[in-house]
Amino acid sequence: MQLTYLKADLKKATGDTLVILVNNKWDKNKNVLELDKNLDNKLVKRAKAAGFKGKQHSSFVLQNFLADGFDRIVLFGYGKPEKLDSEVSWDMGHKIVKKLSLKTVNNVAVLLTFGEKDFKNKLLSKLALGALSGGYVFDKYKKQAAKKNKDSAIKKITFIGTGDAPTAAAGKKAVKRGEAIGDSINIGRDLVNEPAESMTPAIFANQVKKLGQKFGFTVKVETEKQIKAKKMGLFLAVARGSKNPPRLVTMTYAPKGVKGNPIVLVGKGLMYDSGGYSLKPSASMETMKCDMAGSAAVVGAITAMARLGVKKKVIAIVAACENMIGGQAYRVGDIFTAMNGKTVEVLNTDAEGRLTLADALTYAESFKPELLVDLATLTGACVVALGQGTVGVLARDNCSDKVLDAFDRAGEYAWPLPLDPRMKKLLKSDIADLKNIGGRWGGAITAGLFLEEFVDKKQKWAHLDIAGPAFQNSAEGHLVKGGTGVGIATLVELVDPS
Ligand code: BES
Ligand code: ZN
Ligand code: ZN
Repeated sequence: MQLTYLKADLKKATGDTLVILVNNKWDKNKNVLELDKNLDNKLVKRAKAAGFKGKQHSSFVLQNFLADGFDRIVLFGYGKPEKLDSEVSWDMGHKIVKKLSLKTVNNVAVLLTFGEKDFKNKLLSKLALGALSGGYVFDKYKKQAAKKNKDSAIKKITFIGTGDAPTAAAGKKAVKRGEAIGDSINIGRDLVNEPAESMTPAIFANQVKKLGQKFGFTVKVETEKQIKAKKMGLFLAVARGSKNPPRLVTMTYAPKGVKGNPIVLVGKGLMYDSGGYSLKPSASMETMKCDMAGSAAVVGAITAMARLGVKKKVIAIVAACENMIGGQAYRVGDIFTAMNGKTVEVLNTDAEGRLTLADALTYAESFKPELLVDLATLTGACVVALGQGTVGVLARDNCSDKVLDAFDRAGEYAWPLPLDPRMKKLLKSDIADLKNIGGRWGGAITAGLFLEEFVDKKQKWAHLDIAGPAFQNSAEGHLVKGGTGVGIATLVELVDPS
């Protein structure tokens, strides 16, 4: 899909479909009134007759009205102007594309009224982001559906800024930003949706290498031998049950002339989580190809940032492996030594993510991060606490607000959970420094506290538990079915605030 921006007015709009974004005072909108005049006052009359009130995400379609004009005119509501924010804009872009994915719609003009304090410049990039990622479907294994989806996809969208709209250059930049992030979200979704059979640690590492070559970041891939040399004992323990050996993937985006310590991102990279000997029931395993959504998020984010040319050094790390059973697999009751020297008693092999992340975090600290953020589909407990639509944020006080603000600006849902020091004792082991489970209560918190044992006390660090929103059984808002790419927009916003 091609996205462009024009600072122009109604007269310059071309295409087969015209979308006008309107608030709840839609019948006073200058563009609507002008168009209405050209249409013998029938647009407003018919929209009113149909009960259109400009409410958020409501729409009205006028079909084939003019023989020589647009084939259809769509009024798309965003309700009260003060409610218009990043999330609403993103959802709007998404919903416009979903609604207009028809064989007869190819070229869409989206008319935006700026000024009147409604549409702010940066919301344009969210609209573009939503438009680009809203039509996403994972259909590569459904040949006929893929052809149908391709035929009905919109080919081109032109955003037209009227009134006090950003200049052509500023508007184009905003659309480009949305496009780069939206496309990277789709890349992240593809990585998650690919079944584990065709997304092994080695395949994942190769895909990341290709992305690095294409978009401009370097990728170092280390094999088991090198991981052993780094003494990543916890990572290796989890990995050893699979015939597909692990990979340690380090991505570096270092723009020329940029000094200072990097922001380091770590993604949980369980290409598959069977639970190991603490085996999951089959139903819980159905979606466990998604246990690398944290790694897909850091790959998507660094891809977007490289494309945008952000002025900040960023490193992304993934300890990629599979949690499987077999003669080689680690056992319940085993003790392993982490890269930082701490010993861990494994009392549940399904609490494997924290083990791989522990070593990945130790390794991440060797880059002296200005800020360290990990993303992980870490606990079912987080989903119990916050539901399937919200990321759990377990952050140190020295960066918690910064991270939560980034979620807000990005238009993604997150909620803080405490790193409660009183609960640390739940991770005490009788025979090792730590055990990898903390008991029945507050599972998302004890998981966060476990990770904290591997992060220097002074380090600015946030752990994002994305187990809820990373993978959806059915679409909700801009969270698509399957892998959602959650976290990518927020990470970009965190590193490069808009
Ligand atoms: N990958 C799972 C967490 C998960 C659950 C992700 C649901 C996505 C959706 C993780 O490795 C896991 O199994 N965690 C255990 C921890 C427990 C054994 C302490 C859990 O949440 O049950
Ligand atoms: Zn698990
Ligand atoms: Zn897991």
